[in-house]
Amino acid sequence: MKEGSGDAPSNKPWGGRFSESTDSEVERFTESLSFDRALWREDIRGSLAHATMLEKIGLLTPEEGDAIRKGLATIGSEIGAGKFPFREEFEDIHMNIEKRLFELVGGPAQKLHTARSRNDQVALDLRLFVMDRSRELVDLLSALVRTILSRAREYRDLILPGYTHLQQAQPVSGGYYFVAHAERFLRDRDRFLDAVRQADRSPLGSGALAGTTLSIDREAVAMELGFSRVSKNGLDAVSDRDFILDFLHASVMVSIHMSQWSEEWILWSTREFGFIRIPDRYMTGSSMMPQKKNPDVLELIRGKTGRAVGDYVGLATLLKGLPLAYNRDLQEDKIHLFDAATTVRECLSILTRIAGESSFVEEKIREALEGSAFLATDMAEDLVLWGVPFREAHAIVGRLVAYAEKSHKSLSDLGDEELKGFSPHFPAGYSRSLTQESSIARRNHIGGPSPERVEERIREIEDELADMP
Ligand code: ARG
Repeated sequence: MKEGSGDAPSNKPWGGRFSESTDSEVERFTESLSFDRALWREDIRGSLAHATMLEKIGLLTPEEGDAIRKGLATIGSEIGAGKFPFREEFEDIHMNIEKRLFELVGGPAQKLHTARSRNDQVALDLRLFVMDRSRELVDLLSALVRTILSRAREYRDLILPGYTHLQQAQPVSGGYYFVAHAERFLRDRDRFLDAVRQADRSPLGSGALAGTTLSIDREAVAMELGFSRVSKNGLDAVSDRDFILDFLHASVMVSIHMSQWSEEWILWSTREFGFIRIPDRYMTGSSMMPQKKNPDVLELIRGKTGRAVGDYVGLATLLKGLPLAYNRDLQEDKIHLFDAATTVRECLSILTRIAGESSFVEEKIREALEGSAFLATDMAEDLVLWGVPFREAHAIVGRLVAYAEKSHKSLSDLGDEELKGFSPHFPAGYSRSLTQESSIARRNHIGGPSPERVEERIREIEDELADMP
């Protein structure tokens, strides 16, 4: 047969109504095997459940069912062992598996596609994939949160400068700081649980778009595959990719959170800050400057966030112009999904290690705390307790800070007479009572940094993780 212009019916499943075979450039252009082979496990699982259902409703004999199951098992081991004869001319993983099944078991393979289209088959595989990967990421996020909580305990009482606008603002504790990161990842974990819930609808039985005349048992297949419900409209089900966007949204959020943390520790690992020591095994050097040690891993986590955002935007853009129902554009959905799933998994895994194994450089942190006007807000709030309206108190302490700065003193060095010059309310010995420890301990409401509150929240999150699915 001449390449690209053969006149014999093609080896395609639709060959019957075609008068020449597909052009070879078209074949290369339209193939998805190069990326959708990642769905092989899901595809085999789906076919096994579908075959079992066909057998139950009498469209396959038990012998045919057995042959198909055995053949699919062989295919699974072949792919697993890297021995499967992938062929690009069969377009995608679905056709590759079906063709191979025919080679292995003959006739029964031709019945497997009864009451099924690749449209509902692809939709099914993608949903299984999203549920699996979401669960995997939920587990990785649990591990990350647990690691963060153990660091929160370890550094619970270490005083850290808290920042707004990257300017020193108020003292916080190491415990409070780590729990802040834990909260973010806990919400991300929730988002992936939501992605599981959204994907949890079996589309199988939707056929190409309008179901089938054959009396299939959709619920049985769904149950067999671990779905808790079936989709309710075939036209929607074959073209719905909302659940992938949900997954990508969760991926974007967790990537942003990982990126923000990376940025913080990239700054904190500089000579200028020097707050954090990241072990050498997570750093790289320079080919020219012998002294360099660079936080490349954190930079890459920050950089890969662009991939996740791009994947979201890519799929959203792909979907926005599509009329019902299946359109071939949808083939490209997988590229975004696979890329984000892999990227997020790799980032979470390595960030968890860095989070668990880096340490604070306490001398540098103490140095940064020295002489700061950290406790100005506490002073203003004390004035409030003594009856001064907050705005007025704010202004008084503002003047005090300016005075202290001019006289090169820290707020806690100011004497009684100096304080009295700004407000008669300051009691004797007041400035000595101002300490960073007590400042943190006094902010003892829900969501505050006091050690008891931090400890309470750590326990709460631990319980939540133990209870959640
Ligand atoms: N390779 C295609 C995909 O991944 C399979 C679906 C083909 N369906 C169709 N109507 N051409 O989307």
